[in-house]
This record gives sequence, structure tokens and C-alpha cells, in this order.
Amino acid sequence: MAHIHHYDAVIVGAGGAGLMAALESGKRVRTAVVSKLYPTRSHTGAAQGGMCAALANVEDDSWEWHAFDTVKGSDFLADQDAVDVMCKEAVDSVLQLERMGLPFNRTPEGKIDQRRFGGHTRNHGEAPVKRACYAADRTGHMILQTLYQQCNKFGVEFYNEFFVLDLIMGDDVCSGIIAYEIATGELHVFHAKSVLFATGGYGKMFKITSNAHTLTGDGPGVVYRKGLPLEDMEFFQFHPTGLYRLGILLSEAARGEGAILRNADGERFMERYAPTIKDLAPRDMVSRAEFFEIKEGRGAGPDKDYILLDLTDVDPEVVETKLPDITEFARTYLGVDPLKEGVPIVPTAHYAMGGIPTNVDAEVLRDHTGAIVPGFYAAGECACVSVHGANRLGTNSLLDIVVFGRRGGVAMAEYASTNPLPDIPDDVHVHTEEWLRSLTEGESEESPHEIHTILQDEMMDKASVLRTEESLLDVLETIGKLRERYGRARVKDRSKVFNTELVEHIELGYLIDMAEALVVSARARTESRGGHYREDHQLREDDHWLKHSFISKAATGETVLNYKDVTLGRYEPVERKY
Ligand code: FUM
Repeated sequence: MAHIHHYDAVIVGAGGAGLMAALESGKRVRTAVVSKLYPTRSHTGAAQGGMCAALANVEDDSWEWHAFDTVKGSDFLADQDAVDVMCKEAVDSVLQLERMGLPFNRTPEGKIDQRRFGGHTRNHGEAPVKRACYAADRTGHMILQTLYQQCNKFGVEFYNEFFVLDLIMGDDVCSGIIAYEIATGELHVFHAKSVLFATGGYGKMFKITSNAHTLTGDGPGVVYRKGLPLEDMEFFQFHPTGLYRLGILLSEAARGEGAILRNADGERFMERYAPTIKDLAPRDMVSRAEFFEIKEGRGAGPDKDYILLDLTDVDPEVVETKLPDITEFARTYLGVDPLKEGVPIVPTAHYAMGGIPTNVDAEVLRDHTGAIVPGFYAAGECACVSVHGANRLGTNSLLDIVVFGRRGGVAMAEYASTNPLPDIPDDVHVHTEEWLRSLTEGESEESPHEIHTILQDEMMDKASVLRTEESLLDVLETIGKLRERYGRARVKDRSKVFNTELVEHIELGYLIDMAEALVVSARARTESRGGHYREDHQLREDDHWLKHSFISKAATGETVLNYKDVTLGRYEPVERKY
């Protein structure tokens, strides 16, 4: 038994990408948002430092410089046509948010203020440039609130605390989703002409992460189980400044405002790794440098296992007013006052560059040839356009969700306006119903908690910033064993009302899938590029590897890898120096 709903457009996920898509779609056709969380609790709210656009409000800038930085930052894996779209539309995107009422910080003359962020430079790498528009260190929070208000204004309907379980695909056309209502345990069929996934990332496969507990790869997990491909899964970003042991994000904006990274000797070690832009080098380089410093015995603290983020030379007024949240996090969680001493930090799993492959209109690709799945769209972190390639620049993610959320919302509404509602069988939900029943029948022989802990530990040790064939093979074997154990685990809580044990159990299954896709793709890529660093293949190899990976799962359970050439443009791949 399931509740049936009919809509023109259904969006799964209520973070920035989902809400932006919903706003554009909701202005045109009847639109619903189905979200695991109450919208304003979505993880976009944790995005701190800013959203970049070449407004040139504070310093000279141009969208072409922004595009160059994005391509170079991506280690030349980004598709340059998509990067052009994003960087050109950035300026209007910021202004659109401003018109909606987003409270950006201001310059003394009243313009939107801008600050520095890693990898963003003036004139093709000459020096850091002020490009990030921001609302203190709560930029994502402000975007989320602003977009949610607008969606309500335009009549978007919300199904909050509904968990997506399946995609309805008849005749290879997308025709809706099946979701689980967490409050009641009931199933809902959302029958729709177009569907957009904006479910966010999957950082919870790693032990140290800035990601919320809810970031478990639900959207890409559903797609992978449908036999559709995921793109560039080997590229996962580690942000250089997560709070020691906890992983909570301390915004790169701190370094944008002048903070410095120091090792145990007090040395500003980034001068050795990136002599021109130092602490504001792209995240892959800084995180790797931190790993090397720690590995070579120059880590700080009694166990020599962290780096210090030094804000003591930054104007205290700037720290308190432009970085209030991170200052509070350091004080609350570590008992450290950033105005007086270095804050212990480590690289933290932050952002998935890979995900559901799409074109620039957020249409989901069926395969590596570029064919699309009619009626199916994806945007935001769960998608791969690909504008971030092998390494995303800070503040390009808030930009990505706004630009491609908007494009996806417009495209899905146009599709819904010109296509009929596809037929679906009356019993479309029965398979899902039986699957849920199987998870709660019989005794559990395994502890899902233990499985999750092993997964996180192993992924952190063997598939994070530094990787080798040996470490990846090892973790792949572990994932296989964990998958078997997961098959023997059952949900003990049999209640219908807010059965969070069931939700977490399903989330763990998605995480195992995402970890498998990441490790298989990473093993195959025998080079180093961006966030994928192989200690046994340290060079970038453009002759062979200037291509995107597409991983899918055959009905037999085997993983299948295909590749698609990178779309080049104005910028030829060169050695990445900063
Ligand atoms: O450091 C930060 O504020 C994070 C920004 C981002 O991931 O874009």
C-alpha cells in the first residue's frame, strides 16, 4: 500500500541546488520537493566562506580569469564548456540572490564585499584576487534561508522528512520516485514528468569529515543500483582545515583574511609547496602538504599529528565579525581561542567532485557517449557536470548549486510542459515494500554500527589523501567483506514511527556502494591528478588520463568502467604551479 502523488516536477533534496531548481521549476509548473531533512537543516547551511563571481567590486577581475583558475584548479579535468557557463553566469547568480534579499557583507560604499579564497587569482595566477562574495562565515546558511522563503512564495510544495528509495524508470524514461515517510513508515509514489536529484554528497564514508551525518550518497546510490553510471568517483576533496579529530570545517576564508598554516616548528610550510600563493593554494595541494608535514615528523601536538591554523596576526575585529562561527567552533569544541593561539587542524573529507553525470542543463547522462535519460536531472554535489574536475576551488560549490540548480529547474519545467505524464504500473512500489520488509525480518547477525566504523576507518587510512595500489586493493577487499556482513544485518527496531534505525541502515548501504565506486575508479586511474594522489604513480599523465571515468554496476554485480574524453577549450593542460 502506498500513497500516490502526481506532479509535473519532483525535486529530491532541499539544499541550495534543490531549492534553486524548485524555485525556477515552481514558477513554471506544479512542483514538489521531497527532502530527507527539514529544508533549512540541509547541509548547504554548513557552507561558510563564500560564493565566487567576478563582480570586480573590490579588485580587477573577469569571468575568464575565474574560468582559468577553475580549470587549472581542477588539474585540467574540468569540462571547459561547462566551466565557461558557470563562470559567465556567476555574476547574475549573485545579483539574483541579492535581489531576493540575501544579506551579503558590504564594502564601505555599499557594494557586495569580496574576499580571497584558495586558487582564485588575478590575471592567470599572478596573485590572489578578492572574488568570494560572502555573508560573514554563514554564506550557505543565508542562501538556504533566502531560497526557502522564495520557494514558499512561489507555491512549491514540500514533503519534509521523506527519504528517497527508488527511481521509477519505465521504457528508459524517468517517471517518478518512491519515498519513505520517516514520521509514519509509509511509502509514497511521486509520479512525475520530470525528476531532479539534488541529494548532496557522501562524505560519511570517511572517519574525519566536515559532512553532516545525513550525507550518505542517497541519490547517487539509487542511480548506481539502477545500473546507471557515476562519473569521476575517484576524486574526493579533503579540505585542509577541519578541526583536529572532529573534522568540523574551519572556513578557508580564515586564510583568505590572512591566517597562516604552520607546522610544529612554527614554519609557514606552504611557502615551500606553493611559493606564489602559499596558504591560498588549491585544497588538494594544501591537504597533501599537510599530510607530508605530518608524515615527515613536523606535525604539531604531543602525537605530532596536526597542523596549526594561526590567526593571531589577523585583525581581531575581522576575526570576530567576518569569521564569527569558526571562532566559536574553535573555542567550543577545542577550547582554543584563535585570537591567542594556533588552532589544531587536519584535512577533512569535504566534497565529492564525482557523482551523477549531467550536461550543462542538468540532464542526466545514460552513459559515457553523452546520451541522456529523458525526464531525469541532477544538480549540486550529487551531480558531476563536470566543472570541478579533479579538484574543486573553494566557493565554486555554492556557485555550482545556484547556476546548475537554476538551469536544471528551467530545463525540467520545460520538459514537463511539453511531455505527457508517462504511464506507471499500479504495483510500482511493491518491490520497494518487499525490500523494506526483508530488512526488518529475522534476527540481525551483524552490527551496522561496527560495519560503518570499519568502513570509515579503512577509507580514511587507505583511500583518502594518499593512495597506492596496495592500500586500494586492501580497502576494496574490506568493502567486499563489509557488503556481505551488511547483507546479514537486520533492523531491530520494528516500529513505523520515526524508525531512524531503518533510515540509517539504508544509508549505510548507499555508503558501501559509494565507497566501492570510489575505490574501483581510483585503482584504475594509475596517475595522480587533483584530489586523487597515487604514491605509486605520482605524475599526472595527460597522454593517457585526460578523461572522465564512468563506473556502473552490471546486473551480475560486477563493476564496469568506461571513459569519456575531457572537453578542452582555451586552456591547454600545463604543469600546475602556484
Ligand atoms: O572553506 C570554506 O568556507 C568552504 C567553502 C567551500 O567548500 O566552497
